[in-house]
Amino acid sequence: MPASQFDYSAAFTRNTGWVTQSEQGLLRSKRVAIAGLGGVGGSHLLTLTRLGIGAFTLADFDSFEIANFNRQTGAAVSTLGRKKTDVLVERVLDINPELDLKIFPEGIGRENVDDFLTGADLYLDGLDFFAVQARRLTFDACARSGIPSVTAAPLGMGVALLNFMPGKMTFEDYFQLDGHSEEEQLLRFLLGLSPAMLQGRYLVEPSAVKLAEHRGPSTPMACELCAGVAGTEALKILLGRGEVVTAPSGLHFDAYRNRLVRTWRPGGNRHPVQRLGLLLARRRFGSEAAHHSSPEKAKPAYERTVLEILNLARWAPSGDNAQPWRFEIHNDYHVVIHGHDTREHCVYDLRGHASQLALGALLETISIAASRYGLRTEARSRKGEPETHPKIDIEFINDPAITPDPLLPYISQRTTQRRPLSSRALTTGERIALETAIGSGFHVRWLEDFPQRLRMARLLFRNGHLRLTLPEAYATHKSIIDWEHDLSEDRIPATAVGLDPMARRLMRWALASPARVDFLNHYAAGTLIPCLELDFIPGLACAAHFIIFANRHPESLDDFLNAGRAVQRFWLTATRLNLQFQPEMTPLIFSSYVRNKIAFTGNARSERLAQALANRLDEIAAPENIANAVFMGRVGAGTAPKARSVRLPLERLMLPS
Ligand SMILES: Cc1cc2nc3c(=O)[nH]c(=O)nc-3n(C[C@H](O)[C@H](O)[C@H](O)COP(=O)(O)O)c2cc1C
Repeated sequence: MPASQFDYSAAFTRNTGWVTQSEQGLLRSKRVAIAGLGGVGGSHLLTLTRLGIGAFTLADFDSFEIANFNRQTGAAVSTLGRKKTDVLVERVLDINPELDLKIFPEGIGRENVDDFLTGADLYLDGLDFFAVQARRLTFDACARSGIPSVTAAPLGMGVALLNFMPGKMTFEDYFQLDGHSEEEQLLRFLLGLSPAMLQGRYLVEPSAVKLAEHRGPSTPMACELCAGVAGTEALKILLGRGEVVTAPSGLHFDAYRNRLVRTWRPGGNRHPVQRLGLLLARRRFGSEAAHHSSPEKAKPAYERTVLEILNLARWAPSGDNAQPWRFEIHNDYHVVIHGHDTREHCVYDLRGHASQLALGALLETISIAASRYGLRTEARSRKGEPETHPKIDIEFINDPAITPDPLLPYISQRTTQRRPLSSRALTTGERIALETAIGSGFHVRWLEDFPQRLRMARLLFRNGHLRLTLPEAYATHKSIIDWEHDLSEDRIPATAVGLDPMARRLMRWALASPARVDFLNHYAAGTLIPCLELDFIPGLACAAHFIIFANRHPESLDDFLNAGRAVQRFWLTATRLNLQFQPEMTPLIFSSYVRNKIAFTGNARSERLAQALANRLDEIAAPENIANAVFMGRVGAGTAPKARSVRLPLERLMLPS
């Protein structure tokens, strides 16, 4: 067809529906500037041409070479050695011969950047990842001229999007590149683009990333995803409709990991989480960036220290791996822990005590982690905060008397082992070390010999039956088990629960609906196998059960925080002694419901079971008063579990300061 027969309306009529005819006219009147016509810029250009944009300003100084073939739309045998601007101009004029094109075949420099942007309604970044100076120049010029600018970066098999809109946070504000070495600027650009770093996990050949040599791996899928995303942003911005996510917020979609994350980094790369990420990235990619001469280097290490302390402390244990805390860094010496208990939806978080114990364990872990840096901590719970959402201020104080805590190496090794353990008795040394670990204010009652363990195993068996038949516990069980992963960030992996594969499959089937649980319990003695595997056998197969008692009746938030601190020292000491450990908290919780006459179920049978359980626990604890018990569990020699709960990444635990 000769170009004269081209008809704009007919060519782009199939856009109608997603855009109106008058909007199509508006798109035809717009000019989009694109710098860089490689993998990303070339695809942007083709996509926007087919969207019906009427005018482009294009810049690229480069020619096609064979290493471009994996991703660049213009790269082919027939175009080898040809200038990218020439090849792509031919391509787009073949689609829309009426295009109004301005070409900058020498690329972008300080001398022509203003010309390049003249008349542009929008700038799309298609520059090579490593063209950091040209990129800064163009985004800076866009900010000065009030031109919206979009960067959709191909990362792994995904796309990370940042939009910089007139009057909002600028590229430079966000990335904080000024005054840094080129390599550090590249790291900052990378981390700023993808705070979620979704692609990091599947980089199978890390040596392919060579920042210093300006080389990195790429995929064609990512470039096409970028064009799709950038084209859509262009449509929204140029037509003034739809939500445009604007920096410091961004989007990262990773097709390989099936994940979409909306990121938010107030302060951009100044955000504490970004600083931590940069620190880790420098370590990971090594090279000169680790020794760059930047203002960061001159800074006291302290600020980074707080992040490293929190990064270690997030390994503190919590019931169901709920991690009922978020961190706010006030300044280098002051962190606020925001707690939130789960009593609303979890029958096991009676009055929030389990969450408070976990918070106490967190405080102790922070103290131990801080000892690595010669810092003492002072923690104070704020008065007047709602009981369900306690806030705790932590001050870090330089103290020459503080040396690294011997429990420091065990913070991330400590774990929960729910499978049978060796019944080798604890040695006197082990027992004394554990008893000493809990400190003053608490004492331990051991249940060690066979008859005692048998009594406990029976109690746990009944307790298991109550748990599995209690209607109010169904939602908790359903939501806390992660069926997919052996290492779960925010739940307990099914493989760490302690069931054999058959029973696990049955449980998964049953937990799909309360009716299935009922069916199994009524007609198939459904609780028998789980109670044997999860409660009775492990109840016998261990060195000892223990109950930790407070020396005076625990009531307040601080009482439970202190108990949590003691428990964490006890647990970490068990890890140091190479002993495995499992909390057994639910009998205590049910007995507390009964003792305090708190209705926890609408099911009369469950109530009766709980009453019987409470009576037995009273007998086992006698002459101690079970009302003073704060924690129960079992220990013994054994191997560490293969499946375990891991933790949410620090960035997801941070609140903006
Ligand atoms: C206060 C508290 C109560 C817990 N109760 C139980 C329990 O009754 N049974 C159990 O198997 N694990 C219990 N756990 C262990 C948690 O599920 C476990 O710590 C969490 O999933 C993190 O896993 P990790 O300890 O392997 O790091 C409890 C933990 C805490 C801090």
